[in-house]
Amino acid sequence: MDSANNKIKGVVLAGGLGKRLYPLTKITNKHLLPVFNKPMIFYPIQTLVDAGIEDILIVTGGNHAGEFLRLLGNGHQFGLKHLNYAYQEGEGGIAEALGLAEHFAEGCRIMVVLGDNIIEKSIKRAVDGYRKEKGGAKIFLKEVEDPERFGVVEMQGDKIISIEEKPKEPKSDYAVTGIYMYDNAVFNIIKRLEPSGRGELEITDVNKKYIQMDKLTYEILDGWWTDSGTFDSLLKANNLVAKKEHEEKEKNKVDLCI
Ligand code: DAU
Repeated sequence: MDSANNKIKGVVLAGGLGKRLYPLTKITNKHLLPVFNKPMIFYPIQTLVDAGIEDILIVTGGNHAGEFLRLLGNGHQFGLKHLNYAYQEGEGGIAEALGLAEHFAEGCRIMVVLGDNIIEKSIKRAVDGYRKEKGGAKIFLKEVEDPERFGVVEMQGDKIISIEEKPKEPKSDYAVTGIYMYDNAVFNIIKRLEPSGRGELEITDVNKKYIQMDKLTYEILDGWWTDSGTFDSLLKANNLVAKKEHEEKEKNKVDLCI
């Protein structure tokens, strides 16, 4: 049985204006766009469900928030009894959107998945591992060919010593993916954040605070990972998901013949 301390609640961040996908996002929300055979938002929700998380909050925003309710309802298609919703006014950044989850978290730990992040394999093992840890934050890293598009870590031995957001000269090839786990201290950290040069409360600044407190750990993601917030990454996400679905279909056919 989970106690309030090690219970983990899930948060999907699906606010923002998705400007990098204009004009696709002019009349709908980025997270409602299709990725192969499902709307984008289905994938981060499934990531949480596959990790064993049942209490989930969707933070959305903009003009299309009502569509999420029509699409997702109470989350029955994911085997959930209930879904929670919060509304982000404007586009104040990922950390601002996360701040809206404080009331929902009720003192519990949280696992956060960005609404445009899609992964191949379940991360349940890592999430269960974090449950047993003392607290702090855990992020998921992935080696990529284009680190300058992401938050990028600098490592010393097996420790993260810094993170830079979209650096021109990345200090490693390890991107910070949009999957994060935090203890409840995250909400006080967010309250003290200052907006960055682009006027947003940055999730990278939250993670830097955990580095300063010596409370940031990481896992390297197994399997593929992609965001889907640019034309190229949206195409890549479609192709990766299509390939996975076809492979699973083939495997099921073979299994049925045995
Ligand atoms: O995908 C991983 C990357 O995501 C990380 O490596 C970066 O460190 C992190 O800053 C983030 O970078 P992006 O520039 O890709 O973030 P983007 O502005 O595209 O937002 C990603 C998701 O976060 C978006 O699909 C919805 C949510 N979001 C974003 C903003 C700006 C919100 O819910 N509210 C917001 O105000």
